Amino acid sequence: VIDMALSRDPRGVLELGGVSLVSVAEAAGTPSYVYDLDAIAAEAKALDAAFDGHPHLVAYAVKANSAGRIVRTLIAAGCGADVVSGAELDLALRCGAAPDRIVYSGVAKTDSELDAALGAGEAGIGAIQVESVEEIPRIEARARNAGRIARVSLRINPGVDADDLETHSYIATGHDEAKFGVPLTSLAEALDRFASASSVRLVGLSAHVGSQLTSAEAYLIAARVLFGVIKQVRPRFRLDFVDTGGGFGIDYGEGCPARPADFIRATRKLQDQEGLSDLALYCEPGRSLVGSHGVLLARVIQRKSALARDGSTRRWTMIDAGMNDLMRPALYQARHRIVGLALPKEAAGAPSAHRVVGPVCESSDDFGTHDLAPPPEGVLDGVVVLDAGAYGYTMASRYNGRALPAEVFLEGGRIVAISPRRAQADWVSERVGAGA
Ligand SMILES: Cc1ncc(COP(=O)(O)O)c(C=O)c1O
Repeated sequence: VIDMALSRDPRGVLELGGVSLVSVAEAAGTPSYVYDLDAIAAEAKALDAAFDGHPHLVAYAVKANSAGRIVRTLIAAGCGADVVSGAELDLALRCGAAPDRIVYSGVAKTDSELDAALGAGEAGIGAIQVESVEEIPRIEARARNAGRIARVSLRINPGVDADDLETHSYIATGHDEAKFGVPLTSLAEALDRFASASSVRLVGLSAHVGSQLTSAEAYLIAARVLFGVIKQVRPRFRLDFVDTGGGFGIDYGEGCPARPADFIRATRKLQDQEGLSDLALYCEPGRSLVGSHGVLLARVIQRKSALARDGSTRRWTMIDAGMNDLMRPALYQARHRIVGLALPKEAAGAPSAHRVVGPVCESSDDFGTHDLAPPPEGVLDGVVVLDAGAYGYTMASRYNGRALPAEVFLEGGRIVAISPRRAQADWVSERVGAGA
């Protein structure tokens, strides 16, 4: 067993959710993202249980993985949605999210996106998250135009930096320089604006300070600030909820002792201590619901070795998945564990260090060094990139004329759906036609 989602069959071939990944490669080809829907649903239910009956909303951050099957699975497991564009809003609604269980974050929502949020369902979405003072009159104008009252939540920027959070600076969003949220220095001005905007109702306060937080303590740094602000705001506004954001980490191989439920239990405890138990607690997890329950399956195209000037041997394993399929290593210097699809035959000796690279013409198309060895004769020569269920396919691009990868959905120990690869030929005809 490699981690909670993966196992090996008696022949040493990796299985996800009880399905052999060799059979997945045969059914869908490579590169393919493969997702374990049962594990994803179980993850959402475990998080739900952590609220212990307290009113809450788990607003799944659709940006982590927007495959319809996954969004529908999470909604069926009790989640709402956190969206960051009009397209994600439309997707969440079409996947069955109740409008009042959707929150919409984003620093630069267009008028038509605001109109879509205000126009959803009987009374608009649960909350438009206000990320600047300047946005308040814009929302007020769109709400008047629509003849509706906009429910909004004020996303504050608590001014916490990446060092405090122990996360990568690119995925820390709650520090002073970040474009996200309303800084505390602008809080009074924002509240005055809300007080005079008759078509806007402030229903909540929120914060999201960063991603891949590996301890509840890091999450509570921002929650403490947020709860403090709520106490200042409450005498003037009747709030329904507090939203402490997403950011729960997963174990990419370096450990993540805190499970999503631990973050919530710690936050609930603090909420009660602060005397705010009458407010519903919202959170916006993305990565932690899906990240560990998806892998990227790739085929080895060839190996390469060369003698370095210091006399050592450099080895590369070149695979058919590249940075266009999984951008996190190139974008955030993220490391994903990579393992052989099949164990090598015993006589082949110990695996050796290989640099795993893709076919894209960029030196950042590099998944790092991993211990690998070729499989026994007759077994598919492939690798599995672990923990690729979040921020994988959603960030994929067609750079270098690459196909978009396939997606395979597993449930009840079998493949229940395959979303096929977007063919390279489509890219060629699209680009040939550009400007024609
Ligand atoms: C506003 C907001 N909420 C939630 C999330 C989800 O974060 P995570 O996937 O780390 O849980 C993000 C991600 O960056 C975000 O920007």
